[in-house]
Amino acid sequence: MSNRTLTIIKPDAFGSGKSGKIIAHLEAAGFKIVAARVMRLTDATAGEFYAVHRERPFYGSLVKFMTSGACMPMVLEKANAVAELRKAIGATDPAEAEAGTVRKLFAESKERNAIHASDSDENAERESRFFFAESELLAAR
Ligand code: CMP
Repeated sequence: MSNRTLTIIKPDAFGSGKSGKIIAHLEAAGFKIVAARVMRLTDATAGEFYAVHRERPFYGSLVKFMTSGACMPMVLEKANAVAELRKAIGATDPAEAEAGTVRKLFAESKERNAIHASDSDENAERESRFFFAESELLAAR
C-alpha cells in the first residue's frame, strides 16, 4: 500500500468549485486517481473518521465543518504516495504552507484547509477502506 494514499477535498474547497483545479494540480504532480466519489459526511461518519482528534478542542468544530457540505474522498497512487502527497498539500495552516502547495493556493484557514492527506501507510490503508470497497480499490492495478 506504500504507493497509495487517501485524500479528501474538503467542503470548503469542493463547495467553492475548486475541486477541478485541485485534481489538475495533483495530476500534474504525478498522482493517479484510483478511486473517487462525491458524498456528504454525517455526524457519525465524520466523527468516526476523526476519532483520533476526539479530545482536541477543535473536534466539534471540525465535525461541523466536515459535515457542512459535500466532499470528495479519493485514493491516489504515486511512488511514496503518503510523503509525496503531504509535501504537495503543505502545512495544516495555509499561512505556514509553502508557496505552490495545495493549501497555500486553495485553503482558507487552519480548519477550512481544502484537503486531507493520510499521515502514514497504515492510516492510508485504513482510511481508503473507510470510504471505498475492495472492488473500487482494484482500478489502477
Ligand atoms: P487534517 O490534518 O486533514 O485533519 C485534522 C483536521 O483538523 C485538520 O486537517 C484541520 O482541518 C483541523 N484542524 C487541525 N488543527 C486545528 C486547529 N488548531 N483549529 C481548527 N482546526 C484544526
